[in-house]
This record gives sequence, structure tokens and C-alpha cells, in this order.
Amino acid sequence: KEFDFGIVGLGVMGRNLLLNMADHKFSVAGLDLDPEKAASLEKEASEKHTIKGTTSPEEFCGLIRKPRAIMLLVPAGKPVDAAIASLLPYLEEGDVLVDGGNSYFPDTNRRVDELAAKGIHFFGMGISGGEKGARFGPSMMPGGNAEAYERLRPIFEAVAAKVNGEPCVTYLGKGSAGNYVKMVHNGIEYAIMQLIAEVYDLLKRGYGVEDAKIQQLFEKWNNSELASFLVEITAGILKKEDEVTGKGILLNYISDAAKAKGTGKWTSQNAMDIQAPIPSINAAVEMRDISKYKEERVEASKQLKWDDVSETSEEEIFAALTDAFYFGMITIYAQGLAQLTIASKEYDYGLNLEEVAKIWRGGCIIRAACLEDFRQAYSKSPELPNLLLDETIGKTLVEKQAAARNVVKAFIDKGIPSSVFSSTVSYFDSYRSEILPTNLIQAQRDFFGAHKYERNDQEGIFHTEWN
Ligand code: 6PG
Repeated sequence: KEFDFGIVGLGVMGRNLLLNMADHKFSVAGLDLDPEKAASLEKEASEKHTIKGTTSPEEFCGLIRKPRAIMLLVPAGKPVDAAIASLLPYLEEGDVLVDGGNSYFPDTNRRVDELAAKGIHFFGMGISGGEKGARFGPSMMPGGNAEAYERLRPIFEAVAAKVNGEPCVTYLGKGSAGNYVKMVHNGIEYAIMQLIAEVYDLLKRGYGVEDAKIQQLFEKWNNSELASFLVEITAGILKKEDEVTGKGILLNYISDAAKAKGTGKWTSQNAMDIQAPIPSINAAVEMRDISKYKEERVEASKQLKWDDVSETSEEEIFAALTDAFYFGMITIYAQGLAQLTIASKEYDYGLNLEEVAKIWRGGCIIRAACLEDFRQAYSKSPELPNLLLDETIGKTLVEKQAAARNVVKAFIDKGIPSSVFSSTVSYFDSYRSEILPTNLIQAQRDFFGAHKYERNDQEGIFHTEWN
């Protein structure tokens, strides 16, 4: 028997994706160096599945139909290189290797080149949707060699999430395009999570609203134009009782020091490199960092006092929040998608933003009803540099901006941190400013460093003796 596909790394993600493929009638071999994991795989199979687990790279590669298609689902970094090295002696020209982890995109570029020299096609593919997604339909973001993708396409299209019958996977571009798109997906994920957390904070600490009422708001949002996976799970989190104490919801007992595995940070770091302004994603990364300094925050909370001076009532804030949240959410996606547009030029990925919006509509962590609006915007004008310039989206933002401004005022007046929320308004204001005060920056640079400036009324480069 020749197997259609192979998966290396039978942790939760690898195992679930393998079973998902087997559900769709593909025969799949699994490789894991841990004999326990390799052996237990077959026990999970139903009689309809054709799957086989092994601990031997040689046996594994021998099982798969040529040209082989193999996916690595091992932790990013050294384990990926180790897995590649263990397979290499048994691979042949034309074989296709896919890294399905959250790899740092420059690592993928290096691997693509190293393996191309051996005639092997290497793909970096972001997979989103967590354990459940892998098992029942993730969103998948592959990048690599366009022709070699044909070996993968039927399998990936079968297992991906579907929206209106369309699979949430498509070939995105060459080299590390897939990892890059997934990295920015995660940056957007960080910012929307923080936007939601700020709403919760404003209501809970700012207005003393009880958990159940906040829960109802998110539940209501999830049945509106704000429908999205992150809003949905927040509504679920806010009603999960604490089983340890039996008193109130679990959320109230969870430590507020947030962790991160690095993809959000990479989004910000690279955005700085390619000069893509994404203030809301940067703010979300930094809020996780600030959350670490618990002891300092406890001390500062005693010293740096502020009295609530807000005149916005609870009713008024509830009335404004829905539009304000929508404004924030759209503005965050706009920043991330604009980064992709800039990166696509910088790295020659050839990204099609309509396709990106399309495969984010289902399966992934940032899936949301508004992704269909974005898809339509890019379909209308594929070269759109920023969603804010789409006529329909722009009109919606103009209508909702008053609500967003009122909510930000309430945050400020109450002294509740709103790094992401306020950044969405200031990003909007910066982007729509015909004139920015950066003329003064240029003058200062020329004053102290003779860095020269350009004029807005005549051509040329100028320097002034300011003193
Ligand atoms: C996804 C997620 C996933 C990510 C985790 C943890 O799309 O399924 O983005 O890939 O690794 O959510 O990310 P942090 O630990 O950095 O929060």
C-alpha cells in the first residue's frame, strides 16, 4: 500500500490533522520518535481509516507515494531542522516537504534555498484554528513552489474549513509567504484579543458592571455584525464557573500576567523593518509585556492615584460600545492587511489580498463576519493599499467614529488603560491627516544634525543655519 501523505510529529496538532485527512479518505503515515505516540496512533483509527504510525524515518519515507508529500508538525526552530535532517537521506528529487508550524519566516527562506539545491520543494504553511481546527477544519496558509502545490492541493482543500463550500486554504505565494501571512494573522489576533480585554476592563473596573451583564454583551455581539470567533469564546469564558472555589467565574481567579510565544512580537519587529505602521498590534504586544511587571504595578497603584472624572453614564457607554468595537476591529484588520501589502512588495511574495481575506473567513482564530466585507473590497480593487480607502468600509468608519471617540474619552477619564482602543482612533486620525506635524521633525533634524529637508513649494534639498 502506498500512502497519500505523511505527517512528522504526532503531538496534538499532528495527530488531529492526520485523523482529519484520514476522515477524508486519504491514507496517511505518521512518524514520531516517541514509540508511545507512534503506536497509539493506530489505536485511534476507525475501520474506515488507512493510517500507520512508525518511529523509523526510513520506513516512513518508504511508505509514501512519490513524489512524496510530507508535513512537519514539530515546534518551530531547531526541531524543524532536526526533522528535515532525519528525513533527507530517504527523500528524492521532486518530493514536497511542508512545515506546518509557526516558523520564523527568515528560517523558511533559508530552508527553501537549502532544499531547492537538492531538488526538494519546501513549503512554510501557517495553520490556524488550534486543536479543534486541525481535527475538523483549520484555515491553512501555504507558501512555496506554485507547481509543487498541486501535489498538496487536493488533500489540503479536503481537510480545510469551508465557507459557502469554499475551502479556507489557497496557494499564497513563493518562499516564506505562508509563514509571513500567518505571522501577521497572529499579530491581528493579539490586537483583537487586547481590544476585547479592554472592553471587559472598562466595564468591569471602570463601571463596576457585573460579569453576567458583560457576558450578555459579548453574546449579543456574536449574533450581530461583530460575530467572530474571539468574541464568541469570550462570551463562553465569561460564563465558565470556577470549580475550585465554587464562587463566581473562573476568569476572576486567573493570573493577569500574560504569556506569548513570539509571533506577535515578530509581526511588530518586521513591521518596523519594512516601515509598515501597525500601532494597534504593537500596543497589544506591549500590553502583554506590561502585564508581566505585577509587583511594580501593585506598588504604582498605591502611589499614582487618579479619580474617576468621567461624565459618561453606564447607559451611554453601552450605547456607544458596539459601534466603537466595530470601529476598532476594522481598524486593526486594516493595519495588518496593509502590512501584508507592503511586505508583499518588499519580499516579492505576490500576495493576493482577496485570497487572504477569503481563507481567513473560516477555521482560523481571527475568523469574523467582517472578513467577507474585506474580501469584497479587495475583489473590487485588488491594489487597494489600505481598507480605510475602500468606499464602503470608509463610510462605515466615518459613521462609527463618534462612538469610538466617546469610548476612548471614557477610558481616559476613568483612568482605565486603552492602549489598543485609543491606538485605533489615533491610527485613523493619522491616516486621514493630509498634513502631519512631521515638518517640525524635519526642521529639528536639520537644526541639530544638518540632516537637510525638502520644501513643499519647490524642488530640491535644503539646509538652514538655524542659529
Ligand atoms: C492559531 C494561533 C496559534 C498560536 C497560539 C498561541 O492561529 O491557531 O495563532 O498558532 O500559536 O494562539 O500564541 P501566543 O502564545 O503567542 O499567544
